[in-house]
Order: sequence, then C-alpha cells, then structure tokens
Amino acid sequence: MVTSSPPTIDIEALGLDEGALLLVRKALLQLAPGAVLGVTGRAPGWSSHLLAWCRSQGHGFELEERPDGRLMAWVRRSDQAEGRWLGAQSTGRAVLGQEQPWPAEQAQASWGLAARGAKVEAGSPPMGFALNRRDELWAATAGELYRQAAAAQWDPEAAIDWQAPFELPDAVETAVVQVMTYLIENENAALLVPARHLGQIHPHYREVMQLLALQCADEARHVEVFTRRATLKGREPGLSTAGGQTSLRTLFEASDFSQATFLLSVLGEGTFVNLLNFLHAHAPDPVTRQIARLTARDEARHVAFGMAHLEHRLSVQPDYQIRLRNAMEQRYDELSTSAGLNEEVFDALVLLAAGSLTPEAVRHGHQAVQTLKQEMAGGRKARLSRLGFERSEAQRLSDMHTRNFM
Ligand SMILES: [Fe+2]
Ligand SMILES: [Fe+2]
Repeated sequence: MVTSSPPTIDIEALGLDEGALLLVRKALLQLAPGAVLGVTGRAPGWSSHLLAWCRSQGHGFELEERPDGRLMAWVRRSDQAEGRWLGAQSTGRAVLGQEQPWPAEQAQASWGLAARGAKVEAGSPPMGFALNRRDELWAATAGELYRQAAAAQWDPEAAIDWQAPFELPDAVETAVVQVMTYLIENENAALLVPARHLGQIHPHYREVMQLLALQCADEARHVEVFTRRATLKGREPGLSTAGGQTSLRTLFEASDFSQATFLLSVLGEGTFVNLLNFLHAHAPDPVTRQIARLTARDEARHVAFGMAHLEHRLSVQPDYQIRLRNAMEQRYDELSTSAGLNEEVFDALVLLAAGSLTPEAVRHGHQAVQTLKQEMAGGRKARLSRLGFERSEAQRLSDMHTRNFM
C-alpha cells in the first residue's frame, strides 16, 4: 500500500472522455517510473474508465474508499511508459547560435520530417533525402540570407507602375519583347534547377531549404514580370533559339548540388546581375527599368548564397575546386558546337540601349553592350578568384562561360 504521501489530482466532474485523461497523463509525466499518483473525481463511471485506461497503458491501478466516502484511485506509473521514449533520438537545436552554431554533419533518415530540435520516437519511418550531408549544401549565412529574402519579397502588382504612359518606336518595342522572351526562358531554368534540388534536401538543414524555397518564389515573380512586360503592348513573346536552350539544358544535367549552384548561381546569375543592371541603366521605358531594378536585387541574393555555399564547401574540402573546374570544362565542351548568345538577343540588347534606329543611337547602344560584356567577364573573374582560383585560371574559366550568359 502507499506509504509516503504521493501527489494527488482531483478531476472533479470532468469525465475521462471529456479531457480528464490529459490531466492524468500530464501529472504522471511529472513522476518517475514506479511512482504513484492519486486521482479522485465524481464524474459517473470515472474510476472504471481510469482502470481500463491504466490496463491499456500498463500502469498499476488500485482503488481505495476514503473515510469521507470518496473513491481514490492510486495509479502506479509504468516503466514501459518511460520506455516508449527511451530509444528516442535527439536532433540538435531548432535555433542555431553560440551553443550550437552548426546543424548536424549528417542528418539521419530516421529523423524524417521532424522539427530540428524535436525528440523523435524510435520506430518513426525513415525518409530518404539525397542531400543529407551538411557540407554538400550548407552556407554559414543561409539563415541570414533567408531572413533578408523573406523581408525583401515584393508584390509585382504593387511594386511596378504598369500604367506608366510610354510609347516606343516599333523596332525598340520589338527589341524589348525579344529581350523579355530571352529572360523568361532563363528564369524558367533558374526556377526549375534549384527546385529539383530543393525536393532532395533533408529538412534538418531548414535554413537552406527555406532560402531555396524563397529563391524559387523570386524566380516565379521574375517569370511573371518579364511576361507582363513582353505582352504589355499587346505583343506575343519573340524568338527562342536552339543555342540558348542547349546552354540552359546543361544546367539541368549537373546532378551534384554544389556544381549546379556553381554553374547556375555563381556564374549564370552573377552574369545576369550585370545584365539586369544594364537593363536598369539603359531601359527605354519606365516599366522595364523598374522590373530590372527589382529582379537584379533578388539575383544578387541568389549569387550571395551560391558564393557562401561554395566558400563553405571549399573550406572543408579544398580539392573540390577540381570538380568545379571539371564541371565548367565539361559544360564548355558540350556547348562548343552551339551558337551561344543568338544575334537576335544581341541585336535586341543593342537596340534597347540605343532607344532609336539612328546611327548615332545604335553606336551608343553597341558600345554599351560591349561594356556590359566586359563587366560580366570581370565579375565572373572576381568571383572565381574569391573561390580560390588563381588569376590566370580565373581568367581562363571566365572566358569559357556560356555565351548565353546564364
Ligand atoms: Fe531570376
Ligand atoms: Fe535567380
């Protein structure tokens, strides 16, 4: 019989099927296995319901009639109730910080979809995520970049003045539509390539998962605004070339996340930041100018993550640099027979910057595009240098980048 004075709870008139079980379970959780909890109540049938529940859970049960006539149930906590969580796995900490600055080096399949930091019951079904090693996807600034991205989301309807009045010469409007057509197919690739990797990321690395989800949302907006600008004056999109699509297809073929990030973000989107800045500076109309400014800002974040990820990977695996170089050379070889940037897009960029068809304006547009190509090459070289490629190698690899820009 009970000797010390154990804790008791009074469930009053609350039935076990009305929530009283919650109170009993919570009180039992405070006790060590083998300890005893007194339960009293007055709902009809409460003690027989409690007896049935205790049997099903393996808890001991004794009923005592007290001097005042009330019934007291003595519930002895089962060892097995504790045992249910004995083999549970801990999964790190939800919020990274000083105590634990990094997520786990390898995320276990058995952690599944659980919140990072949760205790996962043994026997939870394993989930196979191919990207389950930290160094294959992590970036030290992933959490910070995610917060920046969340704060920087913009509404295409409100952020751009679609009603701004303007009328371009027919040939310049055609050029803008052609550039938009080219941008859209590049944005389609920039959305779908990370999306394919996103579905493979173990949710333990939630900062990267969240950041890539917002990156896909950014690209969805870019597809929207370029489409709206292309069709703003009642036109349909222009031409899509085999060379452009051949270049983009190679991005889908990079199965390794780091290599895909290198080709798409560090080289392609990095080059696109220059292109969008060019469009911002030389846009012949206010809508194109606003679109270019907003999309360039998003792209700069995509490049920042790509760089941060590769800096992390190279810091723990310096010889990975060879793989990056191989990925570039392989892509270059695959594209050696394709045309690269098509003359339709090149001419459209010149005309867009020219703003009219006079020889003087075209001279200005042509010079602007030459300057753009130099800036693109200089930017690629600088990023390759930051990733540890020596000067001449950075130059050589920058020159090997696809003429399609992305
Ligand atoms: Fe984009
Ligand atoms: Fe992007």
